[in-house]
Amino acid sequence: MYPLLFHLIFRRMDPEKAHHLAFSWIRLAARTPVLRTFAAAVLAPRHTALRTEALGLRMHGPFGLAAGFDKNATGIDGMAMLGFDHVEIGTVTAQPQPGNPKRRLFRLVADRGLINRMGFNNEGSAAVAARLAARRPVFRTAVGVNIGKTKVVPEGEAVADYVTSTERLAPHADYLVVNVSSPNTPGLRNLQAVDQLKPLLTAVREAADRTVTGRRVPLLVKIAPDLADEDVDAVADLAVELGLDGVIATNTTIARDGLGLASPSRLTAETGGLSGAPLKARSLEVLRRLYARVGDRLTLVGVGGIETADDVWERILAGATLVQGYSGFIYRGPFWCREIHRGLAARLAASPYATLAEAVGADAHKENA
Ligand SMILES: Cc1cc2nc3c(=O)[nH]c(=O)nc-3n(C[C@H](O)[C@H](O)[C@H](O)COP(=O)(O)O)c2cc1C
Repeated sequence: MYPLLFHLIFRRMDPEKAHHLAFSWIRLAARTPVLRTFAAAVLAPRHTALRTEALGLRMHGPFGLAAGFDKNATGIDGMAMLGFDHVEIGTVTAQPQPGNPKRRLFRLVADRGLINRMGFNNEGSAAVAARLAARRPVFRTAVGVNIGKTKVVPEGEAVADYVTSTERLAPHADYLVVNVSSPNTPGLRNLQAVDQLKPLLTAVREAADRTVTGRRVPLLVKIAPDLADEDVDAVADLAVELGLDGVIATNTTIARDGLGLASPSRLTAETGGLSGAPLKARSLEVLRRLYARVGDRLTLVGVGGIETADDVWERILAGATLVQGYSGFIYRGPFWCREIHRGLAARLAASPYATLAEAVGADAHKENA
């Protein structure tokens, strides 16, 4: 059914318009009691075997929605209704901003990928914080809040910009993510260099602790797949040194070479970050490297090119406690989470592991045995 809908309607539309249309349907369904109960029963049946504890949070499963889909926190219940076990909203910046000129999102259908140069279009952290504060959740789901730098703020003032967003948003976040890895804000990825990242993460940690009393908001950093391997190690070491809770690997890639892209070059040549199937191998490689470096000292979140339950299982064995997806949803539609949960439960049942937690990093443990 969904492939037909995709080919007949969405594929003929501008990808960003298709996103807004589909997202408005999802939100509408989530606001309609009978519809949302029915949709959740069909799309998000729970498998007790998949229950996951991560970052001090209890979740129905390990599979969540990656940042960028719900930038302004307008559809958390809708995405939970579709079966996502956690929803990461954002990226949110301190000041509202329109993002880059349109067109800025492209489908590489032959590659099951996307290229985007959205540029953090969002309503700003004050508006998003107010929305989160007013939210009356219908479905229980963990909400991650992903923050980034306002485009017009100079790199030298980035720390203060992130701190402003932290102060506003940390009280509403089940976990907080410092995004320093989107390719579409000039200079942002320079913040991944350890000498820049250390003061930034330290300041965000302090701001979160200052603002939120009575609980410690878990803090993660999201990294690019384009980092050199030594830089991945350096960020991992820094995360451990600073007592961070986790690392999200990875964001989109600016690489095109060596990915064997089948789409026309007028598309693959578009500026922006590439996501989806072509990103799979490198994201997995970065995750494996992180796990080899830090083991269970950090919670690792695997994202990039997830399409099937087998992909999720592979990330878990490679060291991910949580896994996220975005592009796969565009190509696979509303039954995606259901398929992933079913397949994952079957994988776990057929494995030697009693729980998902036991399976985390099993590949690396085998190698070391
Ligand atoms: C249209 C689009 C917008 C995105 N926006 C953000 C964003 O605002 N912040 C962020 O951290 N990642 C963003 N991402 C990256 C995703 O969260 C994810 O890391 C990446 O797409 C790889 O996962 P995937 O292959 O499952 O899509 C975006 C991705 C896409 C396709």
